[in-house]
Amino acid sequence: MVEKRDQQFFDAFMLLVGIFVGIIVGVILLGDLVGDGASAEAGGAHSMIEERIQPLGQVAVTGDPAPAPAPIAAAPIAVAQMPAVAAQAAAPTQAAAPAATPGSAIYAQACALCHVPPGLAGAPAFGDAASWAPRIAQGRDVLAEHVLNGYQGSTGIMPPKGGRVDLSDDDVLAAMQYMLDAVGP
Ligand code: HEC
Repeated sequence: MVEKRDQQFFDAFMLLVGIFVGIIVGVILLGDLVGDGASAEAGGAHSMIEERIQPLGQVAVTGDPAPAPAPIAAAPIAVAQMPAVAAQAAAPTQAAAPAATPGSAIYAQACALCHVPPGLAGAPAFGDAASWAPRIAQGRDVLAEHVLNGYQGSTGIMPPKGGRVDLSDDDVLAAMQYMLDAVGP
């Protein structure tokens, strides 16, 4: 009975020792690898390892261009296999280009965010003649000044150029005109 327990203890102890030895060896090997990477000076074993590693890198670099042409060659085939899709993709682009005037395009990019009906954060809604009438009554110069420099009115804050200060004055005024045309005569 006592012997059996001793045997069990011994087995467990040796298992633990084995695990510890394994961990220590692992740490040493890992440290070696990391050390090699960090101190890449021209040491005997280090430079040998460097030399062995280098060709692998070159193979990867020279191998790179080879896969690249494949997608390029595949693209026309994919399009040719789906002529209907290709035609659909081309058609809207051709149709949209002449239709888009700068004012409406700028409006869509920079103004619609707030002015699209019903109008966000107090912005007068596009095409809503009732909320535009008193504004138009101020005169175009006041409107232009408000749009270009921004202002706080009774219903909310109109940021300078709608927040798109990268746009030219002409572009922003074209967008304003597009909005006024929608409610004006
Ligand atoms: C972040 C929201 C927002 C964006 C984007 C925005 N506006 Fe406005 N705009 C407002 C608000 C809010 C008002 C109303 C402010 C008030 O009168 O209290 C307003 C008012 C106006 C007015 C009326 C000015 C007046 O004096 O009554 C015009 C014109 C106008 N915007 C044009 C534009 C144009 C053009 C663009 C795009 C370049 C644009 N807005 C983008 C929020 C916005």
